[in-house]
Amino acid sequence: MDNRLHQEFMPEEVIEEVRSRTDIVEVISEYVSLQRKGKNYLGLCPFHGEKTPSFTVTPEKQMFYCFGCNVGGNVFSFLMKRENWTFVESVQSLAARYGVSLPEKELSPREREVNRRRRRFEEIHELATNYFHDLLIKAPEGEPGRLYFAKRGVDLETMKRFRLGYAPEGWNGLINYMQERGVQPHELAENGLALERGAQDKRGGFYDRFRNRVLFSILDRRNHTIGFGGRVLDDSLPKYLNSPESTFFNKGHHLYGMHRGHQGIRDKGFALLVEGYMDVIALQNASYPNAVASLGTALTRDQAKLLRRYTQHVVLLYDSDEAGIQATLRGGEILRDAGMRLDVATLTGAKDPDEFLKRYGVEDFQKALSQVLTYVEFKYRTIVKEAPPHNIQEKAELVVQLAPDILKVRSPIEREGYERFLSLELGLTLEAVQREIARLEQKKPKNVDLKEYSQQKQVSSGKNRDNIKDVIFCKGDTPPPSPTVYLGVYRAERMLLRLLIEDISNLPKIKEKLGESFWKVSDHQQIFDYLNQEGRLPAHSEETVQSRLASLLLEELDISQTERLLEDCIKGILSTQEEERVEDLQARMAALEKSGDMAGAMALLKEIGERLKRGE
Ligand code: UTP
Ligand code: MN
Repeated sequence: MDNRLHQEFMPEEVIEEVRSRTDIVEVISEYVSLQRKGKNYLGLCPFHGEKTPSFTVTPEKQMFYCFGCNVGGNVFSFLMKRENWTFVESVQSLAARYGVSLPEKELSPREREVNRRRRRFEEIHELATNYFHDLLIKAPEGEPGRLYFAKRGVDLETMKRFRLGYAPEGWNGLINYMQERGVQPHELAENGLALERGAQDKRGGFYDRFRNRVLFSILDRRNHTIGFGGRVLDDSLPKYLNSPESTFFNKGHHLYGMHRGHQGIRDKGFALLVEGYMDVIALQNASYPNAVASLGTALTRDQAKLLRRYTQHVVLLYDSDEAGIQATLRGGEILRDAGMRLDVATLTGAKDPDEFLKRYGVEDFQKALSQVLTYVEFKYRTIVKEAPPHNIQEKAELVVQLAPDILKVRSPIEREGYERFLSLELGLTLEAVQREIARLEQKKPKNVDLKEYSQQKQVSSGKNRDNIKDVIFCKGDTPPPSPTVYLGVYRAERMLLRLLIEDISNLPKIKEKLGESFWKVSDHQQIFDYLNQEGRLPAHSEETVQSRLASLLLEELDISQTERLLEDCIKGILSTQEEERVEDLQARMAALEKSGDMAGAMALLKEIGERLKRGE
């Protein structure tokens, strides 16, 4: 049960306490082999492939930074990135490790009650998992379960890895086991593992929910069970019986197989989304640890979001029946809306991946996987199979039908690929297809998606910028005033921040000369605001901000020169501001001239002249 997800709030003192007890080198060493180099440690970056180490950890500042991929931050950001945890989850994990107790008293009585119930839910599910699992792997009553799994090629190792179980026949095996361990039947019922007999039933009391079924434990990322799926051993119905929805088990929020899948997805670079529990097990065993499945319901937006935390690319591999095709189309829509790149794989000669692997083996599976269709193409083929277009009008309708999917594509190259595909398939000209699709394009505001630090030749001839070769665009800095930040200004801002972090007593001087909102780079402004208000570095902020901070902290600083450096940076920023003001006046003057307001233009000209004189 991933209870960490539910707590959003974390008091500042706790974060500080955790941070002060944590040793970043120790934590990161578990993931990266680090070698001491002077004050810092060096290793191969875990976030991008590299052969020579550029991943640096600085214990002095408790930060890390990679010079290869510019990722950096503190110990919390490292865990967030590496483990895909939220900030709160990272704090909680380190708190547990370094013995910082999380405050109960900060919680409201209601929250405390929810926490208590969640802990009880977890306890009960742990006990139940062990009970079912031990039955499956060693008890005499577990024989039917063992036979069933043996027949399906599931070995002991796999049973352990997936914490599989068996619920024997009988009405109160679990109830008795639990009662011996202090769990009352009504608690089992509250947690979805027992049911209460109806009023008309004279026997009264409770009975086990899962009986004579093999059990698939639904595990969270910490390998804790949050629910069960129970399958019959024969062809009787219902085939599967699942744990009911509850506060602590929301089917739409989880995916089966995720306990290994999150790592597998990251390693493989894509998620393999399938339908069945057995498909996940078979695939993960066949070197596809990136296989996951939804829990007996149609794919939800939350599940798409969950996947999005680990990858942008999903390969859908649903059963090859009609229901599977429909589920592919629906699920595809949700994944596309979540901004995923989506391919569809189809298997012939077997109803699902599990059967396919057993029948044809991994190599054939690999082959099938290499012949994926894009979602657009899959949808096209599905529609055409149902109703092939007979004339121009029907062809046009088909294009219109697919247009929404094509319009969701962000890459212009990919989009043109689809348009070309349609034109070839339908025997229409590319222009016609493109015009049809463009017609349906909504007028969206153009968002300027500039790459961070994409460098361009600089265009200005302003004299203070003559020696500046590059212009830096900053993602998220929207105009006004302008998305352009000159390298000189960028460097000056960095240096100012570096000086501030080193010695917060520089703050009054900077504010006096430049004010509080002069920063051109929005991340810089954010770091400054934090320093200004809190007098120290943020423990938690956006990834880009953390990376910037980390890189700032690693910059060498000549401490004998801080006075002069500070002066230079302030001067540099002031003079650029002045230039911008002059440019602004010039533009306004030109506009007045154009509109015939000569007097106004002259007044501005005078002001410009005075400013230029002052600046010399
Ligand atoms: P399938 O019927 O394809 O089952 O349903 P399967 O997992 O492949 O089982 P085998 O291979 O026949 O043993 C796919 C998924 O739909 C959910 C389960 O999550 C199942 O894994 N399902 C199916 C239910 O929740 N209830 C059902 O009655 C049937
Ligand atoms: Mn199936």
